[in-house]
Amino acid sequence: MKEIIHPEQKKYISSFDKENDELILNMESFARKNSVPILSRDSAKLMELLIQIYKPERVLEVGTAIAYTTIRIARNLESRSKIHTIEFSKDNARLAKSNIERSGLSKKIKLFFGDAKEVMPALKQKYDFIFLDADKKDYAELFKLAMKLLIKNGVIFIDNLLWHGFTASKEVPEKYKTSTKFIRDFNNIFMNHPALKTVILPVGDGIGLGVKIK
Ligand SMILES: C[S@@+](CC[C@H](N)C(=O)[O-])C[C@H]1O[C@@H](n2cnc3c(N)ncnc32)[C@H](O)[C@@H]1O
Repeated sequence: MKEIIHPEQKKYISSFDKENDELILNMESFARKNSVPILSRDSAKLMELLIQIYKPERVLEVGTAIAYTTIRIARNLESRSKIHTIEFSKDNARLAKSNIERSGLSKKIKLFFGDAKEVMPALKQKYDFIFLDADKKDYAELFKLAMKLLIKNGVIFIDNLLWHGFTASKEVPEKYKTSTKFIRDFNNIFMNHPALKTVILPVGDGIGLGVKIK
């Protein structure tokens, strides 16, 4: 795996980390031990700041896993704001439900169990902040659905656009070739979308950040 930023810079930045929330630390440790992919801590901190700055009322997360970022978002929402999150793995949804209960934030979070490709078209409301973090092969389709659900001036936050450094690399290991192609194709769609102003940030595994301008 390639590093997106120089290990020295990474180490320096993490030297300022002061996470001491027991549930968050437990979820990070569970994810590490069980190879559950969750947002990196620096991306999650960027997400929290954006939530605090933008103060969205309705957030949609596509790909809950164990509800790590769901809970980090929920604990930064204004009192009346809510997050909806979608997960299709039974095991992850069960773990997410239990973590959400432990977080004490059940009133702010609604978990939809099912395939986002089917759940999203059935959602009744629009969102002012959407976090896309599901299977890379589905990014183009899920992004299209997300754009329909995002209000004007709404924000979209997408993880893994630098894909361990491979999207920008000439040498891609065999096992990453297909997924890298999916993300490269997706990045072309995302970075050239006429209704969005976008940037790819070298934070975590590469964050795509966009605002819907029309
Ligand atoms: C990268 S993890 C999500 C991590 C989570 N957003 C976080 O940062 O804590 C991706 C999750 O999306 C789920 N997923 C992938 N494709 C999906 C789909 N089409 N519909 C619903 N869930 C999906 C997977 O089962 C997995 O749990």
